[in-house]
Amino acid sequence: MKGEKIDLFPAELADRQKIYEWCFQSETTKSHSGPPDYPEKAIATFQEFCEEYYEDYYFTGAHPERGRGFLIKSDREAVGFISYSAFHLNSFSAELDIWMKDEANCGKGYGNDVIRTLSNYLHEEMRIDLLLIAPSNRNIRAIKSYEKAGFKRTNKSMNTFLTEEYQLKYGTGDYGIAGTAIMIKYFAQ
Ligand SMILES: CC(C)(COP(=O)(O)OP(=O)(O)OC[C@H]1O[C@@H](n2cnc3c(N)ncnc32)[C@H](O)[C@@H]1OP(=O)(O)O)[C@@H](O)C(=O)NCCC(=O)NCCS
Repeated sequence: MKGEKIDLFPAELADRQKIYEWCFQSETTKSHSGPPDYPEKAIATFQEFCEEYYEDYYFTGAHPERGRGFLIKSDREAVGFISYSAFHLNSFSAELDIWMKDEANCGKGYGNDVIRTLSNYLHEEMRIDLLLIAPSNRNIRAIKSYEKAGFKRTNKSMNTFLTEEYQLKYGTGDYGIAGTAIMIKYFAQ
């Protein structure tokens, strides 16, 4: 997949360790997890990452209807990761997660470009009409980037979008009901 500034490539199992490190063991970790700013969102171990967040199919493509991960590349260099997940949501919906590997690759408009590119692909190729993204409401840089990519904050609860089976597990969002910014983008029919 090609964006204006970046390209997206399906991530593979061999990429999973480094993608974990970019998320939970890098200089961008403090923007979304762990103390001092995010004590409510624990820093996951690699095992937790593999079992609770990113099962094999994100890296093999075995269940595109459940989710898939992609490496973000700029001039052929991997600079971050983005995924969509749909296993826990109502039909025709997907949730996005994104992180860059370091600060040098933040604030360059890559986030905006990547999110637009993957959103359009999901709409055109997978009939996704509703996209969801749920950062902390204190992650101003993320919120600005997602707004630029066409997402708007909603007062609807996370449970509005989750299937009944997942409401107990994910209904409060990663940062609690008051601390999670629920942002959505609709594609008109
Ligand atoms: C969140 C993230 C993916 C956004 O991607 P990005 O490429 O950095 O974002 P963009 O360049 O598209 O847009 C960022 C916007 O925030 C602004 N911004 C940049 N740094 C900022 C900062 N420290 N504080 C507030 N706003 C900031 C930029 O100016 C830009 O807005 P503008 O174009 O209106 O000026 C990326 O910053 C990142 O990986 N951060 C660390 C991990 C993370 O927080 N992931 C999200 C978890 S939900």
